[in-house]
Amino acid sequence: MIGSANGTAISITGLGCRVPERVITNDELSTMMDTNDEWIRERTGIRERRIAAPEEALSDLCLPACHDALEQAGLDASEIDLIIVATVTPDMAFPSTGAILADRLGAPDAAAYDLSAGCTGFMYAVAQAYGMLAGGLAKKALVVGGDVLSRILDWSDRSTAVLFGDGAGAVVLEAVPAGGFLGFELGADGSGGQQLYVPAGGSRSPASEETVAERMHFVKMNGREVFKFATRVLVSSAQAVLEECGRSIEDVDVYVPHQANVRIIEHARQKLGIPEEKTVIDVDRYGNTSSGSIPLALADAAADGRLRPGELVLMTGMGAGLTWGSGLIEWTAGGNG
Ligand SMILES: CC(C)(COP(=O)(O)OP(=O)(O)OC[C@H]1O[C@@H](n2cnc3c(N)ncnc32)[C@H](O)[C@@H]1OP(=O)(O)O)[C@@H](O)C(=O)NCCC(=O)NCCS
Repeated sequence: MIGSANGTAISITGLGCRVPERVITNDELSTMMDTNDEWIRERTGIRERRIAAPEEALSDLCLPACHDALEQAGLDASEIDLIIVATVTPDMAFPSTGAILADRLGAPDAAAYDLSAGCTGFMYAVAQAYGMLAGGLAKKALVVGGDVLSRILDWSDRSTAVLFGDGAGAVVLEAVPAGGFLGFELGADGSGGQQLYVPAGGSRSPASEETVAERMHFVKMNGREVFKFATRVLVSSAQAVLEECGRSIEDVDVYVPHQANVRIIEHARQKLGIPEEKTVIDVDRYGNTSSGSIPLALADAAADGRLRPGELVLMTGMGAGLTWGSGLIEWTAGGNG
């Protein structure tokens, strides 16, 4: 799916994020499994990640992120009429974390639900909210991307456990006088689904003694195949959205790729021809936070003063599905700016 904006200008007017307090360094991981700091840093660029406390669920991370985003937009939760939570680790199978959040925030007029597109979830959710706002179905949306992947990682599998972390980010989307989103490109290739998946817990293999014994409720991944896929789609999706919007790589001021692995980001950045100083990287501190990755990176860039009104920001996500998605936005001031 690909399209460029025509009509109402819609932008991000508020941004917030939250990561758990607990930091786990590579050295600490190497006391838990057969790995070491050098291997993890060389292969992934990750130094540490945040891991949720036992009592902390996804909505506990999303709630403060939403409060911060709303405050920045100068809105009260009661003014929100759409909440989408992109995640693969909701508080529970149902009700949706979106509905739980709507209640905890105090947004009784909001349509609220979850969206599943792996680590690309945030890009899918932003595009969907954009479409609903542009189509007049909603006026003010909260789009949340977050995961507590530590709950579905196999801590006895060093090939996956070292890669991920927990975190969430939220953005407010609403109409603005000018600027905002210019276009999106989204895709999915379900034939690659089993390269990155959780085999059990759904209607295909419901939880049973056997699925638990066989560790089928944890993330399984073919790292090499996912690496190849990631490097390919980060490039093709970015190029497609730029072309659709009539912009070039040189026009991009800030590049926010999915934070899976520094080597994947480096590969895409060089192939695309984007200078290092325009690329946002925080995977070293958070690991791969799945749907939280792009909003967390946006919040990091904003905190560093890197997101200025008028600048062109390119975001590209990829992940389970296999899915990918890009969005191009001309950054605007927050709701109070
Ligand atoms: C996972 C990934 C870092 C592995 O890197 P790689 O260079 O492909 O490494 P390999 O899988 O070939 O493993 C190389 C060796 O390291 C070992 N190894 C794997 N994990 C290890 C770890 N945590 N610590 C130490 N050694 C490890 C392997 O067992 C293998 O040993 P062997 O050669 O004796 O068999 C890389 O494939 C990757 O980043 N893939 C993409 C994953 C991703 O981003 N997924 C999420 C997308 S949203």
